Amino acid sequence: MSDLGDYYRKRAGEYDAVYEKPERQEDLARLRALLPPLVSGRSVLEVAAGTGYWTKALATTARSVVATDLNDETLAVARTRTYGPAEVRFQTADAYDLGAVEGRFDAIFAGFFWSHVLRADVRRFADGLLNRVEPGGVVILADNRYVEGSNYPITRTAATGDTYQNRQLADGRAFEVLKNFPTREQFTADVAPREVEWTELAYFWLATVC
Ligand SMILES: C[S@@+](CC[C@H](N)C(=O)[O-])C[C@H]1O[C@@H](n2cnc3c(N)ncnc32)[C@H](O)[C@@H]1O
Repeated sequence: MSDLGDYYRKRAGEYDAVYEKPERQEDLARLRALLPPLVSGRSVLEVAAGTGYWTKALATTARSVVATDLNDETLAVARTRTYGPAEVRFQTADAYDLGAVEGRFDAIFAGFFWSHVLRADVRRFADGLLNRVEPGGVVILADNRYVEGSNYPITRTAATGDTYQNRQLADGRAFEVLKNFPTREQFTADVAPREVEWTELAYFWLATVC
């Protein structure tokens, strides 16, 4: 398993604490409200769904949601939530190998994963999403903006432009984690010539790509 996969596998039980940060509550509520209209009536493939926090919002209006993640440990937490009215199914899958997920999808959502994709892999990852969605469908991405004091500080910037943070789990285990913070311009260039709609909140960005 990749370092990133291993980190989130070990963090599964404490992951949801990130959604308790007081300064982010208003933006989280806005993001929870922005997502459902985008997937209304659609068959959604959720990539790197983690503990299902966003699955819950998607399921309020989607026709169905297949929530995938590399780790069964995060999906085990996701399975403890209640969803609806959409039918929600969980499946382990690699975000870079979406052909392994059965079904046809007219919406794909990946929350807080783009930031964990190496600059060198961005095009491959984006193409994987865009090739998996049905014609006329939409790819939706949301992620963090860097806000001093709210995010872990960036501790290393590689020659490639990739940025890294030092993180610690509750039991003290330490990890260096890739975490990139693209601007709107960078993101738009990464998925060009696709059309992008970009919404910027204080703590998060939301992009739809058609
Ligand atoms: C930052 S969390 C985001 C979880 C969820 N989308 C959210 O926003 O709450 C990143 C997730 O990516 C998963 N992950 C890591 N590598 C992956 C891969 N190659 N394919 C699919 N999921 C992966 C981790 O298990 C973790 O659940």
